[in-house]
Amino acid sequence: MKRIKLGKSGLSVPNIAVGCMRLRNKTLAEAEIFLKTALSMGLNYFDHADIYGAGLSEELFAQAFALNDDRREQIILQSKCGITKDGYNFSKDHILSSVEGSLRRLKTDYLDVLLLHRPDALCEPEEVAETFRQLKEQGKVRYFGVSNHNPGQIKLLQKYLDFPLVVNQMQLSLAHCPMIESGINVNTAFDGGLDREGGVLDFCRLQDITLQAWSPLQHGFIKGTFLNNPDYPELNDMLQRVAEEYGTTKAAIAVAWIARHPAYIQTVTGTTNPQHLMQCAEGAQIELTRKQWYDLYKSVGRKLP
Ligand SMILES: NC(=O)c1ccc[n+]([C@@H]2O[C@H](COP(=O)([O-])OP(=O)(O)OC[C@H]3O[C@@H](n4cnc5c(N)ncnc54)[C@H](OP(=O)(O)O)[C@@H]3O)[C@@H](O)[C@H]2O)c1
Repeated sequence: MKRIKLGKSGLSVPNIAVGCMRLRNKTLAEAEIFLKTALSMGLNYFDHADIYGAGLSEELFAQAFALNDDRREQIILQSKCGITKDGYNFSKDHILSSVEGSLRRLKTDYLDVLLLHRPDALCEPEEVAETFRQLKEQGKVRYFGVSNHNPGQIKLLQKYLDFPLVVNQMQLSLAHCPMIESGINVNTAFDGGLDREGGVLDFCRLQDITLQAWSPLQHGFIKGTFLNNPDYPELNDMLQRVAEEYGTTKAAIAVAWIARHPAYIQTVTGTTNPQHLMQCAEGAQIELTRKQWYDLYKSVGRKLP
């Protein structure tokens, strides 16, 4: 398994993480097989959130994994907080109670990584920093990061922290890559040149913040996978053509497309199917040529300026 550095944490992690958002849909037996498959391939980075299945995904994970002290150190547990049924909440009370809930459900004493899930417009960065410091000092969270944040929001949080944020988890796939498109179309009047995320890709690279790609096979805002989707005929043809060159699957090539970017992006796969997980993991090991990478990029109706 290819490995990358997780921000400035000093941790070396696989370039593909196992997303647990959809785990709640599985039975205990299915979850056990799935997690066993992940570990057998060296996939030991698990992405959770307090809200996945209203906590059920974290509970099922702990049950299926049979977490004990020896096994705990072999895996990296990441969870997220800050989304509530009323909106977003980065207050000290909310973050602390969310972390307590995740620790209880995951049956562990600490999270390796805690992310703020989606920006809270009412965020008080000094309060967040104080909360993070407390969680770190208590040994409840080792490293911190964000998700769906732009450079300004990250800088504001970082201003009050005396340790670095290590992760920014963003939606990124062949069908949704505005952070890449805006860089390619810079200084043009094309729509692709619109910079909605404030140059987050280069910012994260400059700051050594690991970008994690959520929904690597989805189009739109979690509308479904683009694999075999009739709305994406050219993309599927190109995925198939490249897959045949490597003797692999279209899913693997879609993951390879993310892994080929020199930013050392960690793909967060969302499958809960062991076979599909193997395909995605295989893709994270493939190094596409420049031509293949650009051909795939263009196969979603994009033109180069
Ligand atoms: N930070 C955020 O705001 C945010 C938002 C959404 C998600 N996430 C995280 O990102 C993770 C991934 O998101 P996602 O679930 O939307 O990702 P995804 O992997 O793009 O989508 C999962 C869907 O794709 C299918 N799939 C996956 N691999 C496949 C394969 N090899 N062949 C055919 N179908 C395949 C899955 O079906 P099967 O299960 O049948 O394989 C499932 O329906 C989540 O688990 C969560 O941890 C974060």
